[in-house]
Amino acid sequence: MNIAVIGTGYVGLVTGVCLAEIGHSVTCLDIDEEKIALLNHGKSPIFEEGLEDLLEKNLQCGRLDFTTDYWEGLAGKEVIYLAVGTPETADGSADLTFIEAAGRAIAAHLKQNAVIVTKSTVPVGTNQSIKRMIESALAEPVHIRIVSNPEFLRQGTAVHDTFHGDRIVIGSDDPDALALLEEINRPFQLPIVKTDLRSAEMIKYASNAFLAAKISFINEMAHLCAHVGANVDNVAEGMGMDSRIGGKFLQAGVGYGGSCFPKDTNALIAMGRSHDYPMPLLGSVQHVNDKQRDWLVKMIQTRLGILEGKTIALLGLTFKPNTDDMRESPAIRVAEQLQAAGATLRGYDPVAVSRARQVMPATVRLTDNLQEAIQGADCAVIITDWKQVKDLPLTEYARLLARPLLFDGRNCFDLEAAKASVIEYHSIGRPIVN
Ligand code: UGA
Repeated sequence: MNIAVIGTGYVGLVTGVCLAEIGHSVTCLDIDEEKIALLNHGKSPIFEEGLEDLLEKNLQCGRLDFTTDYWEGLAGKEVIYLAVGTPETADGSADLTFIEAAGRAIAAHLKQNAVIVTKSTVPVGTNQSIKRMIESALAEPVHIRIVSNPEFLRQGTAVHDTFHGDRIVIGSDDPDALALLEEINRPFQLPIVKTDLRSAEMIKYASNAFLAAKISFINEMAHLCAHVGANVDNVAEGMGMDSRIGGKFLQAGVGYGGSCFPKDTNALIAMGRSHDYPMPLLGSVQHVNDKQRDWLVKMIQTRLGILEGKTIALLGLTFKPNTDDMRESPAIRVAEQLQAAGATLRGYDPVAVSRARQVMPATVRLTDNLQEAIQGADCAVIITDWKQVKDLPLTEYARLLARPLLFDGRNCFDLEAAKASVIEYHSIGRPIVN
């Protein structure tokens, strides 16, 4: 199949490369010339495990190319994927500027019938409007069909998720378009859910919101566990073994961040508001998540008292490990609050120091050397469960810190291991040790 993919962010690029890998002929389009030049040399502008190898391989065998030219990119393409960003606007709704621009470009350059496939996360009903908008602006009398094909890829494991996802969702009100998309995706050998256009759009938001709700649920339980002396990790394990609940996304901690859960829950709430339904459950999910950051700060303040004159090492700054993404990272709010309370801050991250510099309070001393961050600090605070942070033995934490005090916002260490050390260990929803 001849396919074009518009947008080479992590979703578009991974989609394009993986479609080439299963045998399709793919051209990826982007307006960013520098990025396209890099990609044409087989270099990925983002780090995604396994992506660069597949990129080079498919470039070399001629199944994949990159261009900034819409004439070239859309020529002869039967299927056009839309994978541009839908950032958040001030009122929480999704900003469709990039989608609309891509739609206009398709309309101006399309010379043959095509199926438009939306990968971008867009509010319910948007695909229908995109179709109408493109149709009204078409330069040639061609026929277009539209399909919603939301993605469920996690940043950092997007290639793996493409080949090993739980399902592929394709939604369209056009049976021929559905059949075509089923055909395109067949080589992935994954279960395919076929549905109408609007339900597919909704599945994406509902899935992210449900995962966010699972995290906030276990974090709420963690609060109660801390009060009654239970261990939230044991509670999550016992709950998760019930197949109706499932054990994933029940890891208590400092809360979720990133570009997806906060944005998509906001967009869903904005969608509800526009239909006069305020989505109270999702409002609570967000509220609990916001409060997780404050809880960690309060734990530190309660233990250390006055923070003026105290040095605190924040370990891991990205919103999760194995990414350099700082968007909505809990580290930002924790740092702001600790700094406002007078603490002197150091920040460690193995990959995101330069990105962190743009969003963290300016006075935080940033380093990519874990030992240097911890050395001589009054306490260390784990924000992101990077391997480096989890692998440093507690004896090393104790040796490096001015006093052996560790606050773990991701429950990285086993309580028995903590007991065997001299570290005073505070974690989320588990008893304090030592
Ligand atoms: C998320 C979804 O998992 C993907 O399915 C979806 O495609 C993607 O959003 C998207 O909409 O594009 P991602 O944001 O990359 O993927 O990251 P996750 O691995 O889901 O983690 C999100 C946040 O939740 C992180 O801050 C993580 O630390 C936190 N988290 C996750 C927890 O606090 N507890 C958990 O049990 C799991």
